[in-house]
Amino acid sequence: RYRTASPEELSARIVEAKNVLGDSVVILGHFYQRDEVLRHADFVGDSFQLAQATQSRPDAAAIVFLGVHFMAETADLLSGPDQAVILPNLAAGCSMADMADIDSVTECWEQLEDLYGTEADASGRVPVIPVTYMNSSAALKGFCGEHGGIVCTSSNAKAVLEWAFERGQRVLFFPDQHLGRNTAKAMGVPLDQMPMWNPTKPLGGNTAEQLDTARVVLWHGFCSVHRRFTVPQIDAARAEHPGVRVLVHPECPMAVVDAADSAGSTDFIAKAIAAAPAGTTFAIGTEINLVNRLAAQHPEHKIFCLDPVICPCSTMYRIHAGYLAWVLEALVGGGEAPSQVLNQITVSADVAVHARVALERMLAARP
Ligand code: 13P
Ligand code: SF4
Repeated sequence: RYRTASPEELSARIVEAKNVLGDSVVILGHFYQRDEVLRHADFVGDSFQLAQATQSRPDAAAIVFLGVHFMAETADLLSGPDQAVILPNLAAGCSMADMADIDSVTECWEQLEDLYGTEADASGRVPVIPVTYMNSSAALKGFCGEHGGIVCTSSNAKAVLEWAFERGQRVLFFPDQHLGRNTAKAMGVPLDQMPMWNPTKPLGGNTAEQLDTARVVLWHGFCSVHRRFTVPQIDAARAEHPGVRVLVHPECPMAVVDAADSAGSTDFIAKAIAAAPAGTTFAIGTEINLVNRLAAQHPEHKIFCLDPVICPCSTMYRIHAGYLAWVLEALVGGGEAPSQVLNQITVSADVAVHARVALERMLAARP
C-alpha cells in the first residue's frame, strides 16, 4: 500500500490525513529532508529553530518529526508531557551522533577529573564544562545537564562556548571535532590548546602536559557528509567561477572553513543566499537536498554543490513519503482500525530530567 503507491498518490494521502487531523498534529522538518516530505511540513528550519518550534504548538497531540533520531529525542524533551513525538522511519539516525556514547564520555570525564580535580578556581570557574552538539543522544545531553554543561547547535556554538568559558576553565566538546575546532578557533583559542580525545587510548592519546594547557578538549567525531568537502574543490570552484561565494557548514574540516568565504548553519546558508544581489554565484558545502532546493528557489543566482559527486545525508534520506503517509494514516485510524501512534520517540524520565536542563540553557543562548 505504501511501497507501490505513486508519489502523487502518497502526496494526496498525506494531504488528506493532515486535513482530517487538523491542529492535532504538527509536522516539523529539517532542511536536509527530501522535498517529497518537506513540502508537507508546517515548519522547516535548522536544528535550533526546530527545537524552538517544538514548543510553539503545545495544543498539538502529535509532533511528526521529519529529521533524524536525535532531533526527535530533543522534540520529546522540549514538548509537553501529553504530546507524542513521531519519527516516521526509526532507522533515521546520525552517524556522527553515534560516535560518542555515554560510557566513553563518562570514562573521559573521570580521567579529566583525575587530572584537573573538581575544585573551582578563585573566580569560581570549575575545571571543565561539558558541551554537547545537538547531534548527540539524549543520554549525552543528560550528562551535560547533570555536570553543569550545555547543548549547542551549529548556529549558537559561539554563544554557547562563551557561556561555558564564563563558568569553566576549559571545555570538553563532543561529538563533532570540526564544529568544536572551527568555533573555538574563530574565538581565538590556539590550535595547540585543543587536543583531541581518542577514547581507545589512555588520556585520549594525549600527554598530561598537553592536557594541562588545553582550553577545549575535542571528541574525535565527525560528519561523514561534511567531511567530503575539500580545499581543492574550493580552489576549483574559484578557478572556474571568478567571484564565486563559497558558503560551508561548520561541520566541514577546518581547512575548508578557512578557505571558504563564510561558514554557518543551514539557516545561515539559506539566509545568506536570500540576501545576496541577483546574479551571485554560490558554491555550497552542505547536504545536497538543501543545495538543490536553494538552487530551485533562487533562479536569480547560480548555486551549486562544492562536491561534484552527489553527497546526501543517507540517514536524513530515509524518511520517504510512504513513511510519512503511514504514520499520519495510523493517527487518523478509520474503519476497524483505531487511531494509533506509531514510531513514538520517548526519552526515559531519568535521562530527561537532566537533558532538559542542558537544552533550556541552550535555548537561552540564542544564535
Ligand atoms: P543545522 O543545525 O545547521 O541545521 O545542522 C544540522 C545537521 O545535522 C548538520 O549536519
Ligand atoms: Fe548527522 Fe551529518 Fe547527517 Fe547531519 S548531515 S544528520 S551530522 S550524518
